[in-house]
Amino acid sequence: MTGPEPSPLLKVDVVTIFPAYLDALRLALVGKAIERGIVELAVHDLRAWTDDVHRTVDDSPYGGGGGMVMRPEPWWRALGELVGEVPAAGSRTRIVVPTPSGRRFDHAYAVDLAAADRIVFCAGRYEGIDQRVVDHWATDVISLGDYVLSGGEVAVLTIVEAVVRLLPGVVGNAESIADDSFAGGLLEAPVYTRPEQIAGYRVPEVLRSGDHAAIAAWRREQAYRRTRERRPDLLTDPAAGRPASSDPAREPGDGT
Ligand code: 6GU
Repeated sequence: MTGPEPSPLLKVDVVTIFPAYLDALRLALVGKAIERGIVELAVHDLRAWTDDVHRTVDDSPYGGGGGMVMRPEPWWRALGELVGEVPAAGSRTRIVVPTPSGRRFDHAYAVDLAAADRIVFCAGRYEGIDQRVVDHWATDVISLGDYVLSGGEVAVLTIVEAVVRLLPGVVGNAESIADDSFAGGLLEAPVYTRPEQIAGYRVPEVLRSGDHAAIAAWRREQAYRRTRERRPDLLTDPAAGRPASSDPAREPGDGT
């Protein structure tokens, strides 16, 4: 049976001065989740909450220095209207400010956000949003990594995509989520499809063997090797979480 979903599992609001950036969320997997009523998305232009004829969202920084700072009043009015009051501790409403000076985003953080029923993103530009907005309203201050984007919009696209694919019913094959890189603390093993051979590169023979135990063992070994080569921090950094208990106890052999 088909028919309208009762109510969304997750309501996402984005406040931005570039609403068009978020149009991409209507595409592909997240777009499908919206169409199916699992996710509800509302994108808001911050300038709707300005009060001057020029709809000004920025001003020069106290203390001097380069760049401009986002004025607090439009954000205060926007969040007051959209959320009402600051979410209480343990609330399923989150108010997220993406910024390079935030806490690092990762799979565990995505899992945590996926338990929310509402996420309001504040996508800042320029040198950032007046700190008092963040101090008063934000439940989460998130960074994607150690580099600087010109604004929070692309970070919002990233975070929403990472979170929405974890919601029940969004990704068809639940196994493909469980196998994803990081879900088990390791990077994902390489994947192949037809043809069997291209430009002299062949599909690893074991994948065509039909021996499911051998295939699983090969994938574990490949995941471990890839992780050791590209992301050794995942194997040693306690903050990155323990690698999966299914890790080989010793180094896998070198034959490919
Ligand atoms: Cl979340 N925002 C911005 N503007 N730059 C970033 C970032 C976020 N994460 C890494 N760089």
